[in-house]
Amino acid sequence: MKPVLFLTRRIPEPAIKLLEEKFTLKINPYNRALTYQELIAGIEDAEALICLLTDNIDKMVINCAPKLKVISSYAVGYNNIDVDFATQRGITVCNTPGVLTETTADLTWALILATCRRISESERFLRNGNFKGWEPMLMCGLDVYGKTLGIIGMGRIGKAVAKRATGFEMRIIYYNDNPLAETLPFEAAEVTLKTLLQEADILTLHLPLTQETFHLIGKEEFTLMKDSAVLINTSRGAVIDEKELTKALKERRIFAAGLDVYENEPYIPEELLALENVVLLPHIGSASIETRTKMALLAAENAIAVMERRKPPARVN
Ligand code: GLV
Ligand code: GLV
Repeated sequence: MKPVLFLTRRIPEPAIKLLEEKFTLKINPYNRALTYQELIAGIEDAEALICLLTDNIDKMVINCAPKLKVISSYAVGYNNIDVDFATQRGITVCNTPGVLTETTADLTWALILATCRRISESERFLRNGNFKGWEPMLMCGLDVYGKTLGIIGMGRIGKAVAKRATGFEMRIIYYNDNPLAETLPFEAAEVTLKTLLQEADILTLHLPLTQETFHLIGKEEFTLMKDSAVLINTSRGAVIDEKELTKALKERRIFAAGLDVYENEPYIPEELLALENVVLLPHIGSASIETRTKMALLAAENAIAVMERRKPPARVN
């Protein structure tokens, strides 16, 4: 008998094909995320789990799966999984790093340009029938070329974002919580977080959500930023104190923000939705057809490797 793998949402077909050879698949039958109760009910006989970043894999869920050997997440961030508890239970946790780096960096740049040049606001303006002809100061935003880019978290994605900035002849400064092991293939100055907050024109976050990074950008940090600063977040919402960000945007203490992630997804506060100086995307950082397929294959390979007692390509614990 093949072991049971519980898949909490249908992922691209090539991965399903691969998994079918090795597992009896139990797949979420709905075209929506599972509720917590459905997750608990589905996991009970599973030896392997492929889950999403929206699934809350806490102690309770893990305890409901006595046979579970592997939790393979279809994401790079794993703040939704109680990794310590899984480790205690001898369960291997895997993720999908690397394959989504360039795609997320592209999206970060889409947000940088859209936010500085007021792209979404401009399109809303036009579609609402307000474009009456060229005007000297219509939708004037900020230049990106030649500005100072502040990268908070110089990991794989941070570096990929920085590499793209060289084409815009930007000065790159970065803050990383520990020293980098390698020399960077582009010019970038390591600075303190305070210096970065004070000097960057565009700030972009590329950190995992942990106890240390929760609300890393809050009230005090906003007071240090330039009033022309643009803040971009494609990492995890709770790295920013969303209430303080909303206040800063409303009071024009920074110029604008570009967000792909939120503190309590999919909830977006009305106050934030009402603002024009924020570009809001529905967590699509890694959402290209090519990358989502690569992520699915990697998640499948991770699960298969653990079950076959081989080293998985991307292990977290
Ligand atoms: C997306 O947010 C991911 O962590 O893969
Ligand atoms: C992405 O792969 C990252 O962790 O930077």
